[in-house]
Amino acid sequence: MDLVTDTMTSLGDIFSSLGSCLGDGVDGVVTLLTPDSVVQLIFILLGILLATYLTLCALYHGIRGLYTFTLPWLLSKVSKPKLKEKYGPWAVVTGSTQGIGREYALALAKQGLNVVLISRNKQELENVSNEIKDLHKVDTATIVADFSEAGDIGKIVKKVKGLNHEIGVVVNNVGMMGPGYNMLGDMDKKVVKELLTVNMLPVTMFCHAFLPDMAKRGKGAVINISSVAGLVPVPFLAVYSATQHYISAFTQAIAQEYQGSGVVIQEVDPCQVDNASNKCLISCTSMLAPSPAAYVNSAVKTIGYNNRTCGYWLHSLMMTLLLNMTPTVFSSLVIWCCSKSQYKATVSNNNNNVVANGKKSPPPPQQPPQPAAAQQQQAKPAPTPAVQEKK
Ligand SMILES: NC(=O)c1ccc[n+]([C@@H]2O[C@H](COP(=O)([O-])OP(=O)(O)OC[C@H]3O[C@@H](n4cnc5c(N)ncnc54)[C@H](OP(=O)(O)O)[C@@H]3O)[C@@H](O)[C@H]2O)c1
Repeated sequence: MDLVTDTMTSLGDIFSSLGSCLGDGVDGVVTLLTPDSVVQLIFILLGILLATYLTLCALYHGIRGLYTFTLPWLLSKVSKPKLKEKYGPWAVVTGSTQGIGREYALALAKQGLNVVLISRNKQELENVSNEIKDLHKVDTATIVADFSEAGDIGKIVKKVKGLNHEIGVVVNNVGMMGPGYNMLGDMDKKVVKELLTVNMLPVTMFCHAFLPDMAKRGKGAVINISSVAGLVPVPFLAVYSATQHYISAFTQAIAQEYQGSGVVIQEVDPCQVDNASNKCLISCTSMLAPSPAAYVNSAVKTIGYNNRTCGYWLHSLMMTLLLNMTPTVFSSLVIWCCSKSQYKATVSNNNNNVVANGKKSPPPPQQPPQPAAAQQQQAKPAPTPAVQEKK
């Protein structure tokens, strides 16, 4: 308050002196503008500009936040969202036996959509399929498939097409984080290749296969799950972060290509989402790291309201503060510090494991730092590599 009063007083002094000197012509003004007062004036004007920019920024993002999260939430209280009627009768969800993918499958089924579920684990697929049918009385189809072989992805797409269902919603969720925070050179070559394949090829090929059909029908929704690690480069997660940047750039580009087609193309960038199967370095079930169910409950409501969202209000707020309202040099520093500390924790964890076991053990799966980057658990060993389909 004192600062505001002092600033206003200084400004008042400067302008009243300026006013009285104007009467004396240019000479009067030049006499008034001593080096000290010029510097003071510049700082005051810069302060005013910054305050105006931040206020407008806060206003813009506040309104966007209300439109993305509050409006659909309020509307869902008065009427049921009609995703099936809006987009089409069937949804496909890749990576749908656990985490975010599983919850999207359940949430879409809850709104009456039939669901094609794709993952590697046959038994888990059956479990999710039965749960969906029991809870929501819709049809399901399951496809047992592994996305880590580039050559198989075309076959998986063909399997889905072969079902001859009208696909109205595609959730490109499958993805892996790999070994966690690591130096690039310490990563296994095979894992690097797998990360690139699983994180980038399915999303591209599924969009390529289904988007044109949706555009022809003039309706549909494509939801590409990326990560906040796709919004900023995250050191020690270089490959993962780069693949998320790919998803982000790809989604934004196709959204522009298909603008006006009637198809909603949405990029969803979660921060940390807690996973039952994940053990975090930092204990994480909290408002900042919601359960997959809570996260998807929020994210699914944003379909059609915001084509680029973190999907969950607190994640959006954090990223807005970090990326839109903080100078890049500071946000980069925050991200660097978070990633570095996660990396150090991983290294010390590994060293402890080595001491405890007397031999090197693999790094534990981890979650992303808050709020620098989101990460996903390590891919489990592929239980069923073949591409099979069961309806
Ligand atoms: N959790 C987070 O904090 C977080 C943060 C930011 C972004 N994300 C993004 O959100 C997406 C989902 O993350 P999540 O944490 O929910 O993942 P998750 O719990 O690990 O689940 C991954 C799903 O994908 C399937 N899957 C994994 N690898 C596969 C492969 N090679 N072929 C076929 N299916 C495979 C898994 O099922 P099977 O094991 O049965 O195959 C599982 O159903 C990812 O794209 C991730 O990048 C997550």
